[in-house]
Amino acid sequence: MTVFAIVSDIHANLEAFERVLEDIATKDIQDIFCLGDIIGYGPNPRECLELAQKYCRFSMIGNHEEAVMMIAEDFNDRARQAVEWTRNQLNDKTVPREQRREYWNYLDKLQKMEMLEKGRFLFVHGSPRVPTKEYIMPRDVQDAGKMRAIFEMVPQVCFVGHSHVPGVYTEQDLRYIHPRQMKESKFEFPSESKIIINAGSVGQPRDQDPRACYITFTEEWVQFHRVFYNVSAVVEKIQNSGGLPQYLADRLREGK
Ligand SMILES: [Fe+2]
Repeated sequence: MTVFAIVSDIHANLEAFERVLEDIATKDIQDIFCLGDIIGYGPNPRECLELAQKYCRFSMIGNHEEAVMMIAEDFNDRARQAVEWTRNQLNDKTVPREQRREYWNYLDKLQKMEMLEKGRFLFVHGSPRVPTKEYIMPRDVQDAGKMRAIFEMVPQVCFVGHSHVPGVYTEQDLRYIHPRQMKESKFEFPSESKIIINAGSVGQPRDQDPRACYITFTEEWVQFHRVFYNVSAVVEKIQNSGGLPQYLADRLREGK
């Protein structure tokens, strides 16, 4: 049985990304896919782009990649500050020109949607309706209109990131299920109805669990994984970054 892995919302957190890649390397994984937001918020955008390029078969474009390449129009002041800091890192003149060009070329080629398994699996950053921007949150299961409209665009299984909250959304009974409600954090795909799977966040989890999150999946199931990493090292880098706001460090400790 072929097993794949998905990473999402790495957010320039190199320590978390390296630990996740190490964990993936202990399993028999065919390919790794990324759902976007490789950069933004964290202190190592260049290194994380290099790792994503090296290890991920493809990556979706996230709202943070979009913001760095264009303008951060719908970001709040603090998020915009992080976008500008990130852009400066990618343009840092101490990095060889060829390498800098490579970062921007890589960002430029990221797609909004990808499909696999004859279109059965769909990959986007936010939602199939508004790929880089729309959030699908646990509370949305109470908004049947929104969820039905989104599910109309799902072939059978849709993988998303963006909210940093891992879990499965079911079409049939409009439920959200957190991995801790699943046996061994594993969910079998229903044969008849559609599901949306949020892969959680490698570099900035927001479900009150500070450990890095990623998923593995086959044609039949998805499993959620959590990995400890050196949060303090990242907190220190953010504090010494000369530009990244302190709250970005604080939230890593609490996973929110
Ligand atoms: Fe994100």
